[in-house]
Amino acid sequence: MPLPNKTMLILAFESSCDETSAAVVEMDEGVRSIKSNIVASQIETHRLYGGVVPEIASRAHSEVISNITYEALEKAGVTLADIDAVGVTNTPGLIGALLVGVNFAKSLALANELPLVPVNHIKGHIAANYFEHPDLKPPFLALVASGGHTSVISVDSYTDYKTVGHTRDDAAGEAFDKVGRVLGLSYPCGAEMDGLAKLGNPDAIKLPMATIASDTLDLSFSGLKTAVINYINTATQKGEEINKADVAASFTKSAVNSIVSKLEAALERYGSKTLVLAGGVAANSHLRKAINDMCEKRKIRLCMPSLSLCGDNAAMIGAQCYFEYKNGERADVTLNAFATGSVSF
Ligand code: KG4
Ligand code: ZN
Repeated sequence: MPLPNKTMLILAFESSCDETSAAVVEMDEGVRSIKSNIVASQIETHRLYGGVVPEIASRAHSEVISNITYEALEKAGVTLADIDAVGVTNTPGLIGALLVGVNFAKSLALANELPLVPVNHIKGHIAANYFEHPDLKPPFLALVASGGHTSVISVDSYTDYKTVGHTRDDAAGEAFDKVGRVLGLSYPCGAEMDGLAKLGNPDAIKLPMATIASDTLDLSFSGLKTAVINYINTATQKGEEINKADVAASFTKSAVNSIVSKLEAALERYGSKTLVLAGGVAANSHLRKAINDMCEKRKIRLCMPSLSLCGDNAAMIGAQCYFEYKNGERADVTLNAFATGSVSF
């Protein structure tokens, strides 16, 4: 058990989707540092199929998880004897993929008599911000936008989160990926769509604003996605040439505008003065700029992770593990994985 006031060294695991990651992080009230953060991406494998194949993901996690654990410890310059706690993502995600990380972390914690702490993946994404914004403290509002989730979350304390708005259909990243796929880009298409949108005219194609009723903070991207796909299919049938950059720019403008307007409404409703971005889509340059402009105008403090901490990684799980551990969260050998997490957590 760590002594009071001693920093904690946490070994953390993330395997909820298509990245296997192990990290060593050092945490206490003042220290938030990443000693190592190894990410083994399966993107090249899944690219062949145009999306993540769950069974292949689970097998690939099993193949690399031991090696990346050694790598994470070695790079951090520590051994298991130095570790104070083990953190692992146990929800939400692909069930088979989660189970690989959960069972590995469970065995490792049991064999080394270390406390085991389950971590919610969405909370982990938000916690990525604590490394680069050491003075960031709840309460604040957060946008988590990734391939599987898009939610506006009220972070009331380091461990109490309440979802105040969420997508009713596609996640933002999913919409970027599906539109990109129809444009012939390779999976996952978000980063490529981002670059392409810089070359296009955002007003070239008239698209519906991706939105739903103004009295809710919920989001929706499937109507916008379908409108873009219909535009592409109709133009193709007519033999018209499609300007991919214009499509990417017009889609991005509509998606970004809808996110920004819901965030403005959320900031207003909750009177929050701090906004935090998280998740793979938080890497989008257009979204980052639009939210930054909005926050400057409204005098809101904006925290965003650097690009390398937006996507799935275990360091973010280690950061949240620290706060869960401090809050008394512990798991034993019965720890299970859950594909869907609860809305308030
Ligand atoms: O958080 P993440 O790594 O995994 C999930 O938890 O889903 O997010 C991956 C998603 C993918 O849909 C990917 O296309 C998207 O984030 N993404 C982006 C960008 N970079 C990654 N979407 C838009 N613009 C980007 N620059
Ligand atoms: Zn994620």
